[in-house]
Amino acid sequence: MSKKPVASNNIRSLLNETRVFKPSKDFSAAAHVGSLAAYKKLWTESVRQPERFWARHAKAELAWQRPFKKVLQWKEPVAKWFVGGQLNVSANCLDKWLGTATANKAALIWEGEPATDGRPGEERVYTFAQLHREVCRFANVLRRNGVKKGDRVILYLPMVPEAAIAMLACTRIGAIHSVVFGGFSAQSVADRIHDCGAKLVVTSDGGYRRGGIVPLKKNVDDALAIHDAAGGLLARTVEKVVVLRRTGHEVHMAEGRDVWWHRELEYVDSRCEPARMDSESPLFILYTSGSTGKPKGILHTTAGYLLGAKLTHKLVFDVRDDDVYWCTADVGWVTGHSYIVYGPLANGTTCVMYEGAPNWPENDRFWRIIEKYRVTILYTAPTAIRAFMKWGDAWVTRHDLSSLRLLGSVGEPINPEAWMWYHKVVGGGRCPIVDTWWQTETGSILISPLPGATPLKPGTATLPFLGVLPEVVDDAGKAVPRNTGGKLVIRKPWPSMLRGIWGDPARYKQTYWSEVKGSYFTGDGCRQDEDGYFWIVGRIDDVLNVAGHRIGTAEVESALVSHPSVAEAAVVGRPDELKGQALVCFVTLKTGVDAHPGLKNELRQHVGKEIGPVARPDDVRFAEALPKTRSGKIMRRLLKQIASGAEIKGDTTTLEDFSVVAKLSQSDE
Ligand code: WTA
Repeated sequence: MSKKPVASNNIRSLLNETRVFKPSKDFSAAAHVGSLAAYKKLWTESVRQPERFWARHAKAELAWQRPFKKVLQWKEPVAKWFVGGQLNVSANCLDKWLGTATANKAALIWEGEPATDGRPGEERVYTFAQLHREVCRFANVLRRNGVKKGDRVILYLPMVPEAAIAMLACTRIGAIHSVVFGGFSAQSVADRIHDCGAKLVVTSDGGYRRGGIVPLKKNVDDALAIHDAAGGLLARTVEKVVVLRRTGHEVHMAEGRDVWWHRELEYVDSRCEPARMDSESPLFILYTSGSTGKPKGILHTTAGYLLGAKLTHKLVFDVRDDDVYWCTADVGWVTGHSYIVYGPLANGTTCVMYEGAPNWPENDRFWRIIEKYRVTILYTAPTAIRAFMKWGDAWVTRHDLSSLRLLGSVGEPINPEAWMWYHKVVGGGRCPIVDTWWQTETGSILISPLPGATPLKPGTATLPFLGVLPEVVDDAGKAVPRNTGGKLVIRKPWPSMLRGIWGDPARYKQTYWSEVKGSYFTGDGCRQDEDGYFWIVGRIDDVLNVAGHRIGTAEVESALVSHPSVAEAAVVGRPDELKGQALVCFVTLKTGVDAHPGLKNELRQHVGKEIGPVARPDDVRFAEALPKTRSGKIMRRLLKQIASGAEIKGDTTTLEDFSVVAKLSQSDE
């Protein structure tokens, strides 16, 4: 790494030249992959003979109940990896460590959100052996409540250890979990239950967030009471709800349907043999937004997913036995699945888990936690990094962060200013940063530096992971020359790739395998520089990335038009200094509806209720009409320009925004 001191206020000037940060000799010497040449050799072999490469790692990394016979059976777009093999994910994450030194090592260090009166948050530590016991017990609770192999289970929980326990318990008995982020509404919970036909829901009486309580159980009650168009219950497949006591406040318990987690434990013992699962048995479904329609249930299966999560976690974070690793994501997102639960546990890594927000009760929450537990690896998102930058260096520098040795970033492109700040102020100039590009669909990291090998440049996720062959192509699917923008595609299947969209094979094919022939289409725009580094530009479809969360514009639009005052809506992104993108909605009202001052807020709340607080718009603008092409398509490009143009001053509840829209739309036609 460069030894030159970098003053934080001088960062901008340094960015005029693209700086390259080489791994330090010490870091490389101890790393799993210790030089660029070594990486290149491994990568070349891996893409020349991918099956050989993946077979070798599948044998070395995973514990099999029955060995696989065939590495890959590929008939586009259907992949089957490690055919004929059997294994259990919870056994790979937990049983594997029993009887070794790792059994009594901390698997999960959990810290709860501090109380409103300033009392510190609760702390709990689970060793691998303890976690194994809790997972076995809860797996028995699931069984006792009727869950069988292949059944779907919705997990709607706060960031507590029980979220990981419930996930692993599902895998132990072969149930398919679908975690729903706590920031989603009752309607979203009901839609997901309906889509996957879930039999059981695991939730809690509530979760803490910035001193408030998120009423998770209440949302589940509401979800289970929502009717569909035909008058039946939308979530009618649910038979049981298991409720974790977290906040202790009173919740309604429906007789015969709802049971308490802690009471159920009294009826079970702690022995539970791991189910024998085929390599391709469904492991989990995770809903994510697409450019059209309702969220898609992305399906991941057992062996390939686990191998991807484990191997990337080991090499990208260069994990060692004594690391204390902290990924700040929520388990409701794919990052929490692969890099809080499955990857780290499968590698025997000590993982920190935190329940609350980064600025509660004060702006130094993260740095306190790092100092307290001597965290060595921190994995967080650019949106958080930009907020820390804004709050000022002092919150960070007052803490001893000398334990950190590696930093990671995920979720959106990291702007070079934020990269430099992260590097200098958080990493003390000594920690490499792994900027990791991947998606819910990819299951694990596909483009990222290997910290002991790859020279870093701020703002790029750099080079492909082993076995991964990305390319930047034009509309015809042909590779474009270096330094030319295009679509990012992946040319070869990889083990942790999605296996489909739950219940909708046609949409799977259409979304991912039809845009560019013979390749997986990522939906991202990209450019490769002269060194072959991949610079992700962002989504090129109608998906927004707001504070690292994927939001489909179509979903927000249909939430808006479900409000009685709204005639039509178009939703676009606007660059936002903190969140990356902000949600801007252009709305036309029904005839006779008055654009009264409270209506904008009412519409924002309405979207919050329909989809969840994560999708609440930043800005609602009224228009008399939306600009359309002659064929009636909304001109989003134009709206994007208007949204990111000069701030419209004055009384924003008037229709002045419209005149801009109208004028521009005329000139465009
Ligand atoms: C974006 C999150 C640039 C990208 C793991 C992708 C990134 C979408 C990066 C997937 C990165 C994620 N650099 N862009 N390092 N990481 N993205 O499914 O647009 O929530 O397609 O998965 O986030 O978001 P998802």
